[in-house]
Amino acid sequence: MHSVLQGLWPGRGSRVRPPTSIGAQGAPRRDLPPSGGTYLKANEASQVSDRYMDIVSTNIDTMSTSNSTVIEAQGLYKSFEEIKAVQDLSFAIPAGKVLGLLGPNGAGKTTAVKMLTTLLPIDQGSASIAGFDVAERPEAVRRVIGLAGQSAAVDEKLTPRENLELFSWLYKIPRKERRARIEGLIDRFDMTEFADRPVAKCSGGQRRRLDVVAALVAQPQALFLDEPTTGLDPRSRSELWDAVQALAAEGTAILLTSQYLEEADRLSDHVIVLDKGREVAAGSPEALKKRMGQDVLEIHVSSEDDRSTAVGAVTESAVMTSVAGSQQLDINVEGGAAQSLQLLRRIDDAGVSIVDFQLRRPTLDDVFLALTGAPTSDSGVTPS
Ligand SMILES: Nc1ncnc2c1ncn2[C@@H]1O[C@H](COP(=O)(O)OP(=O)(O)OP(=O)(O)O)[C@@H](O)[C@H]1O
Ligand SMILES: [Mg+2]
Repeated sequence: MHSVLQGLWPGRGSRVRPPTSIGAQGAPRRDLPPSGGTYLKANEASQVSDRYMDIVSTNIDTMSTSNSTVIEAQGLYKSFEEIKAVQDLSFAIPAGKVLGLLGPNGAGKTTAVKMLTTLLPIDQGSASIAGFDVAERPEAVRRVIGLAGQSAAVDEKLTPRENLELFSWLYKIPRKERRARIEGLIDRFDMTEFADRPVAKCSGGQRRRLDVVAALVAQPQALFLDEPTTGLDPRSRSELWDAVQALAAEGTAILLTSQYLEEADRLSDHVIVLDKGREVAAGSPEALKKRMGQDVLEIHVSSEDDRSTAVGAVTESAVMTSVAGSQQLDINVEGGAAQSLQLLRRIDDAGVSIVDFQLRRPTLDDVFLALTGAPTSDSGVTPS
């Protein structure tokens, strides 16, 4: 699933805006950290910039005209009074591919999904699904899409089976096909156990599964899943991931929003990271993680002074992010345990007592830190 995707990003042919336009016109580019905030190794700013350009180049390389594009967005904008919820968002998703739209709370993910699924008017730009313009042909669009929104669309008083019957009636599925389709979905998505219990008495995870399954009743060409696994236990999450992969393999174009890099990594052919309505990165999951290094060595020390000393001790040999005023360093580690031990020893030799450390996989927060020089807006960390 994770191969570099031919034809997915950044859209089709000559209408594609140049990658250098990422960032508002005339606004500073956001791939470099703001001065005075996050500590960066002397040459890191240029490294971040270079890595960013690598990814931009990858996008150019993978750009090709695709005649199988199902979901297309061109320069979408949406504001709510002074809040710029979505700004200049473009992408194209061919049949059988998954685009992951990532970002923290308030990044604009749901707003983008709502514009594409006819639930919110588009301020500026255009979108089409299966060739139907979203603004001009909303009824046609609704016939070819499935949406599992962030808030449940199912009826609490009905059972999952009754909800699916209602959806199949709403979607005008021929009566003689309804039963087989519903039973097939209940069986495939392992819903038998709770299919005849009122939704009000189903668990959060069971409801979430019903939401997603309800979006599949009409066998849509384009499927929109807004944070589909939030609230699911690990087993249900994994089952849902398998289901999404199976749907893509059958040719469904899928737009998935998530706050989890792991989820996007597992499912998406291509990822767009949004922050405050604007794209801050795009690329394959591999490309996004590559900029973070293989792993992150997270080190906690006991004071701001110790943090500065530790940063000084490893700054020549490592790319890191460390928020001024904090007691934490995150070092990108290519060489696994051996390099980690070397770095820890160097910090120890500098007289810093290490309170705690862990070697972990990069997270969305790490991607955000490297890209914007600021933590995700909801991480509770404020760069000074
Ligand atoms: N109907 C609305 N009226 C006013 N502001 C809105 C409305 N819908 C969204 N917003 C604002 O637009 C921005 C983007 O919201 P959106 O729901 O798209 O974010 P999100 O990325 O889906 O976040 P989350 O991860 O919390 O679901 C936020 O600042 C939000 O407060
Ligand atoms: Mg949302």
